[in-house]
Amino acid sequence: MVSGSGSNLQALIDGADGYTIGVVISDRPGVAALGRAETAGIPTRIVPWTGDRVDFTQRVCQAAQGMEALILAGFMRVLGPEAIDRFPGRILNIHPSLLPAFPGVGAVEQALAHGVKMTGVSVHFVDELVDHGPIVAQAPVPVEPGDTVASLHARIQAAEHRLYPQVVRALATGLVRLCPAP
Ligand code: GRF
Repeated sequence: MVSGSGSNLQALIDGADGYTIGVVISDRPGVAALGRAETAGIPTRIVPWTGDRVDFTQRVCQAAQGMEALILAGFMRVLGPEAIDRFPGRILNIHPSLLPAFPGVGAVEQALAHGVKMTGVSVHFVDELVDHGPIVAQAPVPVEPGDTVASLHARIQAAEHRLYPQVVRALATGLVRLCPAP
């Protein structure tokens, strides 16, 4: 599931071992991520956002029919409860901070504004809240003196591209699964 440049999708394509990407779904036409999918020979579907979360989620679930998991990779929409019911413990998201710090948009800007010395990447199971849900894996990324949003984001993205294929493989092969809260 993508909305933009798709550099994480590219890492997932390049690291596809132990899992198969069956379809790439975007809420936006014309984004670079779709070109990456087409180059890799992966089917694509556009599910436009229409302002109605229930209807949008239904159409996403239809587009993902036959898939075993939803992997959010720079997908900028919030899915409704139907998706979580349809794919229990099978929806992952990647976020450019060490959650629960800095959820939402502007995570890199927030990290810089707070002057943290360490930020990073989180992969988590998706629940009904934004950038929330059980954390599966994290990778720390140091903030260097003189970092800009662009330089820090580039370092974070490199960590994302290493981490996400490993976590998707772990989900696909059963090494990782969501257990009920104790
Ligand atoms: C990534 O930084 C990811 O953590 C966030 O959106 C960005 C997507 O980048 N959710 P890309 O489209 O994979 O290049």
